[in-house]
Amino acid sequence: MTTFWSTYVSVLTIGSLIGLAWLLLSTRKGQSTDTTDQTMGHSFDGIEEYDNPLPRWWFWLFVGTLVFGAGYLVLYPGLGNWKGILPGYENGWTGVNEWQKEMDKADARFGPIFAKYAAMPVEEVAKDPQALKMGSRLFASNCSVCHGSDAKGA
Ligand code: HEC
Repeated sequence: MTTFWSTYVSVLTIGSLIGLAWLLLSTRKGQSTDTTDQTMGHSFDGIEEYDNPLPRWWFWLFVGTLVFGAGYLVLYPGLGNWKGILPGYENGWTGVNEWQKEMDKADARFGPIFAKYAAMPVEEVAKDPQALKMGSRLFASNCSVCHGSDAKGA
């Protein structure tokens, strides 16, 4: 991302958070914390609005989402070119990197097993009890949803 767009995104995002916090706090100022029978003074089709503050739990939930948002922006990448400071992710957390890590782990674990069968002729693999057991499990997990548990399909 260029410096311009990075700044643009950051200013918009942080500005929105500050704006929302201001809106939340400024509309709360001077309001009594008790509920009241007083209305706002307008009426739409006979429907009036009480001049009551947000319920306390709602207010704090709102504050909570702002704090969560700020924390998320600090920890994770997303704010322009900011990489986040999540421990263990010096280059920033990304879904692609997480997926790659899982793939590498799986390759390290299953690679040698698959390499052994890849080097064998298919006829021999078909007689190997361990290979049959693995194949049956793989089929049950990945293929049976469409092909049926007996591979007959529909
Ligand atoms: C999302 C559904 C789905 C899943 C999951 C799926 N298949 Fe298929 N499979 C199909 C469909 C549909 C066809 C037929 C495709 C065609 O004829 O163009 C097919 C065709 C095949 C064929 C070719 C059959 C033939 O007669 O030519 C084989 C072999 C096969 N699948 C094996 C597997 C294996 C092994 C798995 C698991 C790793 C698997 N499939 C998972 C839907 C699925």
